[in-house]
Amino acid sequence: MLHRKDIVFTKPPIFRPGIEEYATAHTSPVAGELHQIQQRTQRECPQWADIASTSIQAVFLGMLVSLAQARNVLEVGTFTGHGAVAMASALPADGKVITVDSFVADEQARAVAKSAFDASPHGHKIRLVEGDALDVLGEVNGPFDIIFVDADKPNYQRYFDRIMQRRLLSPHGLLIFDNTLWGGAVTDPPPASGVELDRTTDADEWLRAMRGDWARHLAAFNASITADPRVENVLLTVRDGMTLIRHAG
Ligand SMILES: C[S@@+](CC[C@H](N)C(=O)[O-])C[C@H]1O[C@@H](n2cnc3c(N)ncnc32)[C@H](O)[C@@H]1O
Repeated sequence: MLHRKDIVFTKPPIFRPGIEEYATAHTSPVAGELHQIQQRTQRECPQWADIASTSIQAVFLGMLVSLAQARNVLEVGTFTGHGAVAMASALPADGKVITVDSFVADEQARAVAKSAFDASPHGHKIRLVEGDALDVLGEVNGPFDIIFVDADKPNYQRYFDRIMQRRLLSPHGLLIFDNTLWGGAVTDPPPASGVELDRTTDADEWLRAMRGDWARHLAAFNASITADPRVENVLLTVRDGMTLIRHAG
């Protein structure tokens, strides 16, 4: 799937108006450095800013890292570094976050992430690995206490399969997949449009077809995970849907 730079990516929220704002207002505030990443993301990556994790997710991810007493974290999909910094700041001084991105969505995100990591007091815990996520998952050394998968949704099942095959998740580890409700579209994904998407496709049509395609993949992924006896999962209605997975038994 192409990532078009000439359109503004948006997706409907899963909540009625005001709920997410209320939840944000009643969640602990994020550190100043995360606020700055959010502002730079809006300013420097406006087309794809909507794909960044939010304050609620940053606080939630940090809590999970702390509660799991994690030391080794893997993030698949860095974008501007918001999630990586949120998780790194919850790690002990010798903890590590490996974060992976090919910057296929927005090249400009690399510069924002790199300067955020350089400026952060937790930056020494973060290692950015540039490359295709599936390749990196084939090479990286685990196990990890927390794996946060937040890259291209059509590959979620492949990412899960590779993580399981390579035993990248520690026995008591937590595997998190973001956007598993995909704006609510997973309950009734549209049929394939049959439109061949390219850079000349009308922007609205491109966005509709792309969102529909990813909804079908995510619906299949959600069904597959739920039926997989090797794992236990819970799909939380946090932000755009966050699925938490651990080894069964
Ligand atoms: C939703 S954003 C990640 C947001 C980030 N986790 C955060 O907390 O703000 C998804 C990122 O995945 C990257 N991505 C998409 N497909 C990829 C692939 N096949 N390999 C590596 N990175 C990929 C995109 O470049 C984009 O920056």
